[in-house]
Amino acid sequence: MRVLIVGGGAREHALAWRLSQDPGVEVIGAPGNAGIAAVGRTMAVDPTDADQVVALAKQESADLVVVGPEAPLVAGVVDALREHGIDAFGPDREAAQLEGSKIFSKEFMARHDIPTAGFAVFDDPDAATRYIEEANRPLVVKADGLAAGKGVIVASDAKEAIAGVDRIMRERAFGDAGDRVLIEECLVGQEVSYHVISDGERFIPLAPAQDHKRAFDGDKGPNTGGMGAYSPPPVVTPEIEQKILDRVIEPTLRGMAVEGRPFRGALFVGLMIVDGEPLVLEYNTRFGDPECQTLMTRWKGSIMPLIRGSAQGDFGGLMPEWEAPASLCVVLAAGGYPGSYEKGKVITGLEDASALPKVTVFHAGTVLDGDAVVTSGGRVLSVTAIGETIDEAAERAYEAVAKIEFEGKQLRQDIGWRARTRR
Ligand code: AMP
Ligand code: GLY
Repeated sequence: MRVLIVGGGAREHALAWRLSQDPGVEVIGAPGNAGIAAVGRTMAVDPTDADQVVALAKQESADLVVVGPEAPLVAGVVDALREHGIDAFGPDREAAQLEGSKIFSKEFMARHDIPTAGFAVFDDPDAATRYIEEANRPLVVKADGLAAGKGVIVASDAKEAIAGVDRIMRERAFGDAGDRVLIEECLVGQEVSYHVISDGERFIPLAPAQDHKRAFDGDKGPNTGGMGAYSPPPVVTPEIEQKILDRVIEPTLRGMAVEGRPFRGALFVGLMIVDGEPLVLEYNTRFGDPECQTLMTRWKGSIMPLIRGSAQGDFGGLMPEWEAPASLCVVLAAGGYPGSYEKGKVITGLEDASALPKVTVFHAGTVLDGDAVVTSGGRVLSVTAIGETIDEAAERAYEAVAKIEFEGKQLRQDIGWRARTRR
């Protein structure tokens, strides 16, 4: 069986790594990276160009296409594949609006009584500014459309919030994604990532995880795509998990089906736990990166039945089995990330790190340059380890991290701090 994996981050490497462990499965990264090349093949493609992805899937006679990132989903790559009779994992364009339009997702939550922060929507920057001046309290300003994770401003005062509106709506820093803004109440609590896989009707819950979005230790510095993650986070007690399933996941998937846009694929809900109550911060219509790396390494056995069942719209009563009680992933980034950074730095120590027991090194921004693996992006590697406890997984992951070098290597030393007893 041949599986095309669209994307080229560590999330896609983790999916490729897991899927390629099944006998008879061949994976192709589109476009992939140096890590995916080591478990399969890679082919150059623009992941958001539906025609190119369909042509590649046909040329390679792919039996299944797994779409990793959000941009191709919102661009309708899954729709195009299905129109050509090719099985595709991920939501179609209509269902991907849960992530593609933050305003759609907030109005959807309001229609279905799904707990979330209070909000207001504006298409006029003057009206947004007046609202902020009158409210005069901490608010969160968000561009409506996709902005590569950069369109959210958590403002501690009115001045910062107004600067956010100016950047999104007047300077148009994110283009059309900033035609409208969303202004939300600022929630204070612990963030968690909750993933399920749905076939459009039923869903299978995966384990909870926690990301670390800020660039530096102590949750300081600018927001990033994610500097590390672990699973499971202790804040998600069985009671809170049940609330997440009953009050968020179930009504979301039912609401999407009722509205005629059934959701197939991975649904990753970003939640804030406030005084024991889960509130939705955002929907993502794909696996989280780096959350996916922690889920794939904890998982026992094949994920193919879930992925293929979801793609085909029927997965029966399968349940994932968990092999490792805990997993932790440390992201190694290029110096300067999430700002400007250099590429082409030679990476050493990958084999030594990967040889450690229970450690897997997933690649993100890497390419092969002759025999050398060199950096080619902001987030470069996801060093992931499993263990009986978060402490054990963290010790293994950091032991592996110490073996890998490249000029400018940047990382957080405190991934999993909320769950760790030893430092
Ligand atoms: P989003 O892309 O909507 O998840 O926002 C990115 C990040 O901004 C989240 O991961 C949170 O850390 C933060 N954030 C978003 N919405 C809120 C909110 N209503 N209150 C507090 N923080 C928020
Ligand atoms: N780790 C957060 C995300 O993938 O959006």
